[in-house]
Amino acid sequence: MTLRTIETLGDLAGTTVLLRCDLNVPLDGDRITDDGRVRASIPTIRKLRDAGASVVVMSHLGRPEGAPDPKYSLAPVATRLAELLGEPVAFAPLDVARSELSDGVTLLENLRFDPREASKEAGERAAFAAELAAKGDVVVSDGFGVVHREQASVYELAQALPSAAGLLIAAELDVLDRLTATPAKPYTVVLGGSKVSDKLGVIDALLPKVDRLLIGGGMLFTFLAAQGHRIGKSLLEESQFDTVKRYLAEAQERGVELVLPTDIVMASTFSPEAEHTVVPADRLEDAFGPEGIGLDIGPETAATFAAHIRASKTVFWNGPMGVFEFPAFAEGTRAVAQALTEVDGLGVVGGGDSAAAVRALGFADDAFGHISTGGGASLEFLEGTTLPGLEVLGWQTP
Ligand code: 3PG
Repeated sequence: MTLRTIETLGDLAGTTVLLRCDLNVPLDGDRITDDGRVRASIPTIRKLRDAGASVVVMSHLGRPEGAPDPKYSLAPVATRLAELLGEPVAFAPLDVARSELSDGVTLLENLRFDPREASKEAGERAAFAAELAAKGDVVVSDGFGVVHREQASVYELAQALPSAAGLLIAAELDVLDRLTATPAKPYTVVLGGSKVSDKLGVIDALLPKVDRLLIGGGMLFTFLAAQGHRIGKSLLEESQFDTVKRYLAEAQERGVELVLPTDIVMASTFSPEAEHTVVPADRLEDAFGPEGIGLDIGPETAATFAAHIRASKTVFWNGPMGVFEFPAFAEGTRAVAQALTEVDGLGVVGGGDSAAAVRALGFADDAFGHISTGGGASLEFLEGTTLPGLEVLGWQTP
């Protein structure tokens, strides 16, 4: 079976569509700092409105503890959604009755304010899904960023009513499928972010497929430490030493170039104003002794990574190269992003922090082949994991 599309739901005129989106956006107070996920949800809402349906948009935001918490309210998202759609968006509590919904577009409050949304008990999730299902006629699932979660609105709801995938999920799968099926070579994957342990599955799955794996971000220090280098107070996951050594050996056996940084920006402390200097990767403590902390890849590494990226036909990048939120430590991430815009082929930014990083650094969305709205979801897709939120829409993991 392939993914069920909106067309399979038949004539939607006069119906109420329950639309699961991922509007989990970063907030600073009630200001949205990256509205990429809201923008990515617009085409499906418009399509449903053009088909004559009323739309009840649903999403989670952050990880509240299963109870209302104003810090995680979707209210700022309702405002942004209305601006982008150019039509009013009503904002309703989770227990709003169907009879109380107005025609047009409604956004429900954060689904995770109800503990049953993310409950481990299938029965509890099914009960919550049934309450949600009572508010509409059909379900369209379009929250790609959350398809790896077996949660009530993602999994059980799509089984409670006729359901189909929205345009965003279809577009994401189109690109990610190209990365897994027959990626044009050379195929380079760039991984960053803080933890190796978050990337184990994807490294295991990708080593047999890629030509080059470039390692930056906080996770690089566990690789350097596993090679016997002193790393000061830089991020370290000692528990991953054996795994990292296995990756280094496996890469060599398979003829995959696993590229580690040759220089690092070391800082005196974790702060935007910290004193900092560039040192070779095997002499990190030359800078600030054992107190120093690595906050970005160095310029030589950035140039090497950029050259590898530009020479590739397929590139997938997940995870910033350094603490890009501090301007002094954003250059590595900027260099990788810039090179990705110059790929003669498919260059994909894999969601979450990397998507926020490219926008924060001022790159336009359309400079890249694709910016995924799913961080964890795109990684799990590339790992070949069966994703519950896709499986219920008819998708079969190849
Ligand atoms: C994400 O940001 O990765 C998705 O919205 C899923 O959020 P979660 O990791 O809190 O389930």
